[in-house]
Amino acid sequence: QLILDTLHAHSTIHDTRSLVIPGQSEPASSQDAQITVLGALNSLLSREMVKFETHEIVSHALTPEGSQIALDGSHEARVWSALPTKGQGMPVTPAQLKKQVGDETAKVGQGRAFKNGWIGKEGDGLVKLASSIKDVTQLDLVEIQSSGMLKSGEKDLADLRKRKLIVQRKGQWFTVHKGSEFSTSTAKPETDLTADMLASGSWKTSTYKKYNFEAEGAPTDGGSLHPLLKVREEIRNIFLEMGFAEMPTASFVESGFWCFDALFVPQQHPAREMQDTFYLSDPSHSLHPEKEYYKRVSTIHEHGGFGSVGYRAPWSHEETTKLLLRTHTTASSTHMLYKLAARCRGEDVEDDDRPAIGKDGQKDDGFRPAKLFSIDRVFRNETTDATHLAEFHQVEGVVADRELTLADLIGFMRVFFSKMGIQQVRFKPAYNPYTEPSLEIFAFHPMLDRWVEVGNSGMFRPEMLEPMGFPKDVRVHGWGLSLERPTMIRYGINNIRTLMGHKTSIEGIENSPAPML
Ligand code: PHE
Repeated sequence: QLILDTLHAHSTIHDTRSLVIPGQSEPASSQDAQITVLGALNSLLSREMVKFETHEIVSHALTPEGSQIALDGSHEARVWSALPTKGQGMPVTPAQLKKQVGDETAKVGQGRAFKNGWIGKEGDGLVKLASSIKDVTQLDLVEIQSSGMLKSGEKDLADLRKRKLIVQRKGQWFTVHKGSEFSTSTAKPETDLTADMLASGSWKTSTYKKYNFEAEGAPTDGGSLHPLLKVREEIRNIFLEMGFAEMPTASFVESGFWCFDALFVPQQHPAREMQDTFYLSDPSHSLHPEKEYYKRVSTIHEHGGFGSVGYRAPWSHEETTKLLLRTHTTASSTHMLYKLAARCRGEDVEDDDRPAIGKDGQKDDGFRPAKLFSIDRVFRNETTDATHLAEFHQVEGVVADRELTLADLIGFMRVFFSKMGIQQVRFKPAYNPYTEPSLEIFAFHPMLDRWVEVGNSGMFRPEMLEPMGFPKDVRVHGWGLSLERPTMIRYGINNIRTLMGHKTSIEGIENSPAPML
């Protein structure tokens, strides 16, 4: 306001050091005052209310000792003050003086006071000689404190510098002119055009803040992809790039038949018991599965067939029709394989363009090779902890072709994982009721510096494939991995509950780095 009022009266401020702040007698010539002036000038400049030029100067500032002297007087003046006038009291001994004014002041002050002729000796003590003194040091320092300068000149400044009472500083002062938007009102310019302003007509007279195109802008509150979705997309792209088709996986609810029995999982298998599987209570049972296939599946369990002795355990119809939340997406793969074998069973199927591949020129037995994948949710009745949830996602794939071997499965795995950025993989024999052989897949994790299990795989058993109607030379290999594990490893998440469920941190998701696609 002072700057604007002064400009209004004089149209230019030649030297901002001459500004007199209301209520103060001296002009604002110190560097501290000029820093405040600069702040005000910049704010007025941004509204184009003023223009200004900067002048660089060398200025001087007081050291802590200098400030002390500006306040209390020089050491010599303090020594002088502490003494009695000659002939008017007991001379003060040097020891007494030290006690009164302190060691430092007594030491430095005595010498100078003597030199100035202010004090003298009387007996063993000290007395005042001068009846009044002019403490030039204090006066100079006060002048420097308020103006940064000393009128008496460079020699005195150099002396004060040598005495470490002042230091040199770069300073600035300014010449100010009116800007294009000059006004004496500091009312903030409008930053928004509001409905109220339009209604009242005040928009016509308001001043507006200029757009700052360099401003960064407030971060937006947009949505962002969940890390699981990002990694899912990445894996989906790998499958598509390798010629896989996506399986439908919409049915979270399956029957025991499709989740277990059709896969040749024995009805007495512990995984089917209450602690691992969520069973539905309403409705609790499925319709009867397709009769012929059902018969072949139940027979191979109970009595064997297709070269297998089966489990030789009683078959439960009740067990096979129980409805449950699927425990693996292999339930969906089984549906798809059963569908794929329809033509082999002699059923009428809507044709596709793929050429029939009969073995060694033999007649078409209806088999078509297939590469299928899915990425979707599965459910397990498990105790949840930092790495386990009752629901999670499985990445699953199946490849069906004639005379596939275990080497094909291993080779495929290496390619698949290397596309996911995992170069080092190892395989370990494992057990699944529906695959033989079965392999667990381990990947070396350089950050964790150890091998971690990343998946489970195997060649589906003939006990599963042949009741579906596949020709004997058709092999199907499949594998499954969790989506959460690679996602957690990639994003350095060590508690699955921060990734899924009610403890998920929205902020963490928004800030997580995008995967490299
Ligand atoms: N279903 C298995 C699992 O839940 C994964 C798997 C799929 C294994 C296909 C072999 C073949 O872990």
